[in-house]
Amino acid sequence: MSLLPILRFPDPRLKRVATRIEALDDSVRRLARDMAETMYEAPGIGLAATQVDVHQRLIVIDASETRDQLLILVNPEIIQQDGAQLCEEGCLSVPGIYDKVERAEHVLVRYQDLDGREQIVEAVGLLAVCLQHEIDHLQGRVFVEHLSQLKQVRIKSKLAKQARITA
Ligand code: NI
Repeated sequence: MSLLPILRFPDPRLKRVATRIEALDDSVRRLARDMAETMYEAPGIGLAATQVDVHQRLIVIDASETRDQLLILVNPEIIQQDGAQLCEEGCLSVPGIYDKVERAEHVLVRYQDLDGREQIVEAVGLLAVCLQHEIDHLQGRVFVEHLSQLKQVRIKSKLAKQARITA
């Protein structure tokens, strides 16, 4: 197992659209394990393969308080959504930035588990937000892109300053 480096917004690689995983082999299982370890270590509640510069449809999530409800979703797809909620979001690719984004309150997500079996997860609240946030990453979208242009400019300059300080 190993910790993976996480791309930081506005790295252009975060804009790449991930492709479907056709062969569920050991390399996918290894990547899922490494992503989970990276997410727990960060710590974060979700991580998309896009954020570790692998452009395949794979996400890991643990939105539980006890940190023992790991979900690994291969080829996740929102098949139903309704309602609305406004929740403050953050992202491991946008460190130190939190802002409110409107999302569906309730989602149904179809995916495959690591054995290739089709599964469906139904979620509300934080888990629903997290699923939408991570699936957005696979489409090349970072949560700050839901915010106003002015806020995005401010966030980019703040992150550029942070990068200079930590470099
Ligand atoms: Ni994120």
